[in-house]
Amino acid sequence: MDKRDFLKKFSLLSMSVLPGTAALSHLIDEMDEATLDQLTTDEDFWLKIRAGFRLNPAYTNLENGYYCILPEETLEHYLAHVREVNFLGSYYMRKLMADNHTIVRQKLANLAGCSMDELIITRNTTESLDTIISGYPWKKGDEAIMSHQDYGAMLDMFRSVKERHQIVTKFISLPNHPKSDEEIVDLYRQQITKKTKLILVCHLININGHVLPIRKICDMAHGLGVEVMVDGAHAFAQLDFKIPDLNCDYYGASLHKWLGAPLGCGLLYARKEKISKIWPLLAAEVLPLDSIDRLNHTGTKPVHVDLCISNAIDYHLAIGAQRKENRLKFLKKYWVDQIKDNKKIQINTPFEEERSSAIANVLVIGMTPQEMATRLLEEFKIWSVAINNEAVKGCRITPSIYTTTAELDLLVDALRKMCGE
Ligand SMILES: Cc1ncc(COP(=O)(O)O)c(C=O)c1O
Repeated sequence: MDKRDFLKKFSLLSMSVLPGTAALSHLIDEMDEATLDQLTTDEDFWLKIRAGFRLNPAYTNLENGYYCILPEETLEHYLAHVREVNFLGSYYMRKLMADNHTIVRQKLANLAGCSMDELIITRNTTESLDTIISGYPWKKGDEAIMSHQDYGAMLDMFRSVKERHQIVTKFISLPNHPKSDEEIVDLYRQQITKKTKLILVCHLININGHVLPIRKICDMAHGLGVEVMVDGAHAFAQLDFKIPDLNCDYYGASLHKWLGAPLGCGLLYARKEKISKIWPLLAAEVLPLDSIDRLNHTGTKPVHVDLCISNAIDYHLAIGAQRKENRLKFLKKYWVDQIKDNKKIQINTPFEEERSSAIANVLVIGMTPQEMATRLLEEFKIWSVAINNEAVKGCRITPSIYTTTAELDLLVDALRKMCGE
């Protein structure tokens, strides 16, 4: 079998669409406009999606923010990739890996809406954004702006860079219920000086689900000569958008959160003209300075994970990015609306549709987040996570596409009981 046949055979295995995704696409293709319009609230449709997951009956999983449970179909693809890479041995790495990687990378770039020259597949958001923070050409006295609600790993990297290069890091705190986009944009603007080089901003804050007005922040910052790096760990494939439309300079995301890809894959986007100034975390072979591949050398990788990104994209697109976002927003609103006026409840997430998606943070006043999470699990068999950030205290509730409204009714009932009703 020559290389071309081998590649074709492997590519077919890698890229084929199993009946689950095909059936899903077929089901949606057959629907008329009116039915499609109502799919967000059609429990029967989402029960069909749920049937494609193997879920632990021991608890109701409302903690889908850490990483996603793969639908069985994607899991089977993943296991097939593991077997095939193992079967082929180093022949795979030496002869087939590069071409397959390019196919997957191009498909991911299409989903992100950018050129393949501006996107690499990484292991996660931490690797993506820390590559930029550590590799930025900092000079003593340069300033960077971030928020107390940013993710710890990025703040840790900024602390390290601050000590190493004597830069200045400035912090803002974001309100849980902003009055307008301008209020947020102004918070960043007020910290900008002539020395400011870079702003770190979350697209969707992990601890309370707050979606920030990224485009407006980027436009403002660029007007003042400042670059913006966006943490999209939770936004990519939870929200339906294209990265270039945000007008940011750098964007990092984890694909094992909302795209439905296996653990250990992410992406880094860098605007073409910004690439050449970034130092790699791990040095690569000699490449043109503006090649983003310079930033992507991490040694031998679990390539089966990267291959499965392709299957995850098929599944994501079969459901439909906008349909998925609509359903996730509906699920969050479904439970929040039932409880938000309760005097003993505090919702730490904006209520407006454009300012949040699947995730919301709730506090039963008088309880600590840990007490809440423990009671939810032990008494009501609901799995959530306690958040004890200075500005956000409560339980993070994160439904997934397989979550039913019946499960959210259980949550509402549990919260009411915890309020003493
Ligand atoms: C906002 C945010 N940024 C970055 C990360 C880091 O993601 P990873 O561990 O996949 O690198 C997370 C993880 O939960 C996150 O929520």
